[in-house]
Amino acid sequence: MSFLSKKDIPLEEFIPDGYIDIHSHLLPGIDDGVKTMYQSAYILERFERMGVKKVITTPHVIQDVWPNTSHTIQENLQEIKDIIVALNIRKLELQASAEYMLDDLFYSRIKSKDILPLHKNYILVEMSTFGPPMNISEFLFEIKLAGYIPILAHPERYSFYHDDLKKFDELKKSGFLFQINLLSLSGYYGERVQNMAKRLMSLDYIDFTGTDIHNYHQLGVLEQGFQPKIAEKVSELMQNNAIFS
Ligand SMILES: [Fe+2]
Repeated sequence: MSFLSKKDIPLEEFIPDGYIDIHSHLLPGIDDGVKTMYQSAYILERFERMGVKKVITTPHVIQDVWPNTSHTIQENLQEIKDIIVALNIRKLELQASAEYMLDDLFYSRIKSKDILPLHKNYILVEMSTFGPPMNISEFLFEIKLAGYIPILAHPERYSFYHDDLKKFDELKKSGFLFQINLLSLSGYYGERVQNMAKRLMSLDYIDFTGTDIHNYHQLGVLEQGFQPKIAEKVSELMQNNAIFS
């Protein structure tokens, strides 16, 4: 494929064959993602047409806000799975995990090993956008002790680290893998986040990609397109998600 044109390149044109999305909010009504089964099915159908092979959707688990349990997540997943089969969305495989906020609830879940991993022993975790947890090394200790590998969701969105790239280096060295949002690269969260996403990619800090899609509007942004240079680079990076097969 040629990336010489100056026009934005739609996701559909550079998404690797059999792409696996590991970050999204497509279980209706249990977090700030899609509100209805219909919205979920619509987005999943668009994804299937784009060539996505699997979606591991990741509802928030946040104390006092969305304290979803493994049970509520699995129940909701089964409902939507039945619906998409009825709608003939059969090629796309749908699974559910969670995006765990590093808070007290997560601490107790990890202690009791009540965790829905993304795949094998990988888990997706996030920090508040206001600041990192005080006891991040204690979280990391418990995660490792329980036998999991943490993937930090959208590091590029943590503006409190933007002026201190060393922090990203420390997080990587301590054992966090990084997942970048495709929406960040599209400019959806603004130029600062987009630039940080590009920066982290050029430093080879990014291990995986995800859409982090919550709604139709974001679907439109993803479909609209990416700058050719970004599309070329991220298309390569997107192949890393194949380990979640
Ligand atoms: Fe998310």
